Amino acid sequence: MVAISEVRAANAALKGSRHALTAVFVGATNGIGLATLQAFAKHVPRPRAIIVGRSQAKFAPQLETLKQLNPNGDFTFLEADISLIKDIDTVCQTTLTRLGDATKIDILFTSQGYISFVGRETNADGLDNSISLRYYGRMRFAQNLLAHLSPRGRVISVLAGGKEGKIIEDDLDLERNYSIPQSAAQFASMTTLSFDHLAVQNPDISFIHVYPGLVSTGLLGRSATGVLGYVFRYVLEPILGLFSLKAEESGERMLYCGASEQYAKGSWSLDWDGAAKEEKVLKEYREKGWAERVWEHNQRMFERALAK
Ligand SMILES: NC(=O)c1ccc[n+]([C@@H]2O[C@H](COP(=O)([O-])OP(=O)(O)OC[C@H]3O[C@@H](n4cnc5c(N)ncnc54)[C@H](OP(=O)(O)O)[C@@H]3O)[C@@H](O)[C@H]2O)c1
Repeated sequence: MVAISEVRAANAALKGSRHALTAVFVGATNGIGLATLQAFAKHVPRPRAIIVGRSQAKFAPQLETLKQLNPNGDFTFLEADISLIKDIDTVCQTTLTRLGDATKIDILFTSQGYISFVGRETNADGLDNSISLRYYGRMRFAQNLLAHLSPRGRVISVLAGGKEGKIIEDDLDLERNYSIPQSAAQFASMTTLSFDHLAVQNPDISFIHVYPGLVSTGLLGRSATGVLGYVFRYVLEPILGLFSLKAEESGERMLYCGASEQYAKGSWSLDWDGAAKEEKVLKEYREKGWAERVWEHNQRMFERALAK
């Protein structure tokens, strides 16, 4: 476990360094992503961030806050629909054009997503939309931007590191077996296994799949509609809030994952407190070569999506 005092001290020490870091944030218009972006702006002396989200107008006040947090910062918002693979490809191209050839990406931080309480919602790519945001889209961002990461760069997915579970092996995209618990277990495993594959191919880069713990962000209330949404917003979330991490602390912890030497290189499955984990079931998948199989599956899903 990394104590929060250690996290805060390490982040504060970034100020004293000559750090000019460049990051791409996807899903940082709210919650854990936004808190991490704010910590990045606060602690990094010369931060440069490309922020990919679906509404520039909605993000305008936050953009102002970022500039106030660090007047030396360079913050660019790119408006895009990030649920479809072809649109992710386009916004990745725009990101690279904006950064220019000379700039490398130090951190790719992905935390976009919601939980579907209405069952599988197949999108135009033929994938469940919530899974696409939490998993396939993040892998596509990683794949597209990988060659433009700095040596010792990091790819971070905020999801469920250490919560890997059983995969339905003949239904990897859960076309026939969608449920909230199964999608949680399956894509936790598939995220870590994809990162294992990428870490072998890219030994200088660090791939971090992290479970943030219970964090007060309003995720449940925003994900559900109708009576369920009301109950989540006004009953469940205030109760959970008593036991949850504040988004600010989570942002500090996530920045620590992105900047601490502790996580340089390799594939990491991290708990909320920064402790590395390996579930028994994950160990078995690793031994049976599932990292490659999962990555091949990703490629098939991308090709199918782009052919539609
Ligand atoms: N909070 C927790 O306790 C917790 C616990 C475990 C795991 N997680 C995981 O951590 C990740 C981040 O959670 P969070 O609490 O920070 O969530 P959040 O506050 O709801 O933020 C989610 C982000 O995803 C974006 N997003 C949602 N639906 C989208 C859509 N259809 N198209 C494009 N973008 C969309 C949101 O953009 P807009 O601003 O445009 O809506 C926002 O930037 C999620 O994958 C979540 O499952 C969270």
